[in-house]
Amino acid sequence: MPTHGVNSLLAAISGEGRDAKRGGYSRPVYSDAEITLREWFIAEASVRGLEVSTDANGIIWAWWDLPGSPGDDASRKGSLVTGSHLDSVPGGGAFDGPLGVASALAAYDVLAAREASGELARNRALALAVFPEEEGSRFGVACLGSRLLSGAIDPVKALNLRDAEGNTFADIAAANGLDPARMGRDEKALARIGDFIELHVEQGRGLNTEQYTDAAGRGPAVAVGSSILGHGRWRLSFSGQGNHAGTTLMIDRADPMVAAAQLVLKVREIATAQPDARATVGRLEPVPGGTNVIASRVDIWLDVRHPEDAVTALLVEKIHGQAQKIAAFEGCSVVLTEESLSGTVHFDAALSASLERSVHRLVPDAPALPTGAGHDAGVLAAYLPTGMLYVRNPSGISHSPEEYVEDADAEAGVLALADALEDLL
Ligand code: GLV
Ligand code: MN
Ligand code: MN
Ligand code: MN
Repeated sequence: MPTHGVNSLLAAISGEGRDAKRGGYSRPVYSDAEITLREWFIAEASVRGLEVSTDANGIIWAWWDLPGSPGDDASRKGSLVTGSHLDSVPGGGAFDGPLGVASALAAYDVLAAREASGELARNRALALAVFPEEEGSRFGVACLGSRLLSGAIDPVKALNLRDAEGNTFADIAAANGLDPARMGRDEKALARIGDFIELHVEQGRGLNTEQYTDAAGRGPAVAVGSSILGHGRWRLSFSGQGNHAGTTLMIDRADPMVAAAQLVLKVREIATAQPDARATVGRLEPVPGGTNVIASRVDIWLDVRHPEDAVTALLVEKIHGQAQKIAAFEGCSVVLTEESLSGTVHFDAALSASLERSVHRLVPDAPALPTGAGHDAGVLAAYLPTGMLYVRNPSGISHSPEEYVEDADAEAGVLALADALEDLL
């Protein structure tokens, strides 16, 4: 029997990928934990009678075909698709990704029950989808599955990405039963998606801000997504002279760690001076990384976001300029590499209006909210109509174990998603 209800679905995977060291969950793409979750989704979809397949790019699809057209590809063109991802950042929360996948299964259950009781007549097929490497926490580029599917990334670039252990994406994909030669833009799979709706945990203070909360300080359970902040990732590699921590005099050093440390502070200064900008160094890797070793190289990963893409470019230029100055002063050198870049996205107006109409029946005060977080719905927005629903996160914290969703809000999210899907089916 399938596990019913979004909270029971989430409970069933709550033990997978816990990170004892960092807290929360670490479920990098194609790790044991993420594979276990993929298998869980396949089992849950299969037991519901959905037709499940994994495509050339590692995206899992579970099809609820139109009555009388099982497995018929022609009738799948322009379908309604909903889903999210199962991979996580290191030490992430329980909901970023899995909430959208579990809600897709639970919303299907609601719709299937409505169809069985004669309340729902469908004109379109529905697919539930799971996208791999949404976080880019293993291979560096976020939304790798949807970028490959849509052609937003050159498959050659994707296949040559490496994880922290030096494995290429091509090797890991092949080890997981995919054929690297077949990866890349998939016209057939794209043509099947008429509209894509991603439900997601809200990742900031959005629904907790005063303008939306009631007298008890409680915000509405659900919001409709309006836009995604433009964002990108860059790597700055500072190179210096690796040496002995005891024998090298302070004046004889070319220490890339000292250069990187100064740049981290400059990043904050530059972003703080620019309204609406966000810039973060969340990952720093000294090579070789020993307590008594002056590093020979330090890589820092920079995440920059701003509503205007030209301003993002300007911020990165300023940061690069400062990095060069600092490196020169410290006797080091620095190389900047762009890893990925996504412009600001406004979700499809007609689809979002439809989502708002549906959601307002259940949650009359559901606002339209922008987000600073990236999503597969953002990547796919350049190719087809996409929209998002956000479920209230009382902690206002995400990419952290403190990310939170209350059971009742998760259930409200499922009903809102089911109604929104029903209105579009
Ligand atoms: C992914 O969640 C991102 O916004 O970086
Ligand atoms: Mn996510
Ligand atoms: Mn995330
Ligand atoms: Mn994301």
